[in-house]
Amino acid sequence: MPASVRTAVIPAAGLGTRLLPATKAMPKEMLTVVDRPSIQWVVEEAIAAGIDDIVIITSPHKKALEDHFDRMAELEAALEAKGKQEMLGSVRHITDLATFHFTRQGAPLGLGHAVGTAARHVRNEPFAVLLPDELLPDGGQTLSRMIEVAEATGESVISLVPVEGPEICNYGCAGFSEREGNVIKVDRLVEKPTFEDAPSNLRITGRYVLTPDIFEKLERTEPGRGGEIQLTDAMALQIDDRGMRGLVVDDAGFDAGQKADWLRANVELSLRGDDGAEVAAMLRAALESNGF
Ligand code: G1P
Repeated sequence: MPASVRTAVIPAAGLGTRLLPATKAMPKEMLTVVDRPSIQWVVEEAIAAGIDDIVIITSPHKKALEDHFDRMAELEAALEAKGKQEMLGSVRHITDLATFHFTRQGAPLGLGHAVGTAARHVRNEPFAVLLPDELLPDGGQTLSRMIEVAEATGESVISLVPVEGPEICNYGCAGFSEREGNVIKVDRLVEKPTFEDAPSNLRITGRYVLTPDIFEKLERTEPGRGGEIQLTDAMALQIDDRGMRGLVVDDAGFDAGQKADWLRANVELSLRGDDGAEVAAMLRAALESNGF
């Protein structure tokens, strides 16, 4: 397992307006997907890729995130006293596998600004960024492969997935000059291009392995698309400096920050879980009884 990337930065300061009213008083990252908050899937993915140091960037009203990844002595004692070992294991295992650090973004100035707030923690090492809206429950395989490519090249690596037509306008987009298997040499990055200006049909998914010079580039990055400091713009400065690779994947997982895809994540991940057969029977019965 690659060991060079030890830290994952998870920006979780957004308001979650796309999921209102569910997210009025609850952080969107705490919405349940199957049996755990969506952000736990992302933390588990990072841990599966060999990362054991997690920095979560939050904002006011997101204390539930800190509580979720902290030990809870009272709850653990109560479960212990009742002999509920399985439940005890389920609340303990995540806090045992990594150390968690929380920092506030301070002002909603964009994804690039959020990542920049982790500079003092990460210092001079390559690190991963995982956007918690995107769930990629692949046992950390994509992230592990990205870390391998970053180790082999000394460059930042982003994961990319092909999209159809004008969908590209909603994402960061990467153009490339060379391709070897599913690894490309990125030669252009544009945040949310128009369809005509998009350098390819490859969209940036929410997974990045970044070399630490990104922090100096973020400091030089002016507000871009939407008046925000864009991570994509700072990464574009890395292309000329030291190069950048992209890992093209077939499946970007689920966008849990969108109502329909959050529901799809719940259905598909339930079907893939231990109770899959039961869930399938329940869905069949629900379809039939509702006339589908
Ligand atoms: C962010 C990034 C974008 C990327 C997307 C993936 O955009 O800026 O480059 O493609 O995440 O989810 P946002 O969704 O925050 O607008």
